[in-house]
Amino acid sequence: MNKELLMQSARQMKERAYVPYSKFPVGAAILLADGSVINGVNVENVSLGATNCAERTAIFTAVASGYKKGDFRAIAVAGDTKDFLPPCSICRQVLAEFCLPDMPVYLTNDKNDILELTLKELLPYAFTDLEM
Ligand code: THU
Repeated sequence: MNKELLMQSARQMKERAYVPYSKFPVGAAILLADGSVINGVNVENVSLGATNCAERTAIFTAVASGYKKGDFRAIAVAGDTKDFLPPCSICRQVLAEFCLPDMPVYLTNDKNDILELTLKELLPYAFTDLEM
């Protein structure tokens, strides 16, 4: 699957976001090694800190579906923002737990441009090992 299709999947997913507080819907789409796509949306809570971002929802859904470290090939993230919407720092850390540093991360803006980064570019010097 190409990045445009993966981003389309992330974009469509925004409709399912539960965002009564921020009114800021985000959708994510993860491409797995077997070609499957698993999606996520942000799910907010009146206790705001209990909110889960779209990227983490997608990662956790993939893990709960049986996918393992090394099965993650790319992630696309879509919001309704003028500029490219980047994953928050907590999501970057969660991505670093399951995805290789060179994995592509696709961001988009309101003109439907796609910015391709790597996870390593988003989170250099990631903390991934307790045995340091
Ligand atoms: N959010 C995401 O789901 N992903 C991002 O990359 C950035 C922020 C959510 C969290 C919250 O529901 C809303 O966007 C506003 O911060």
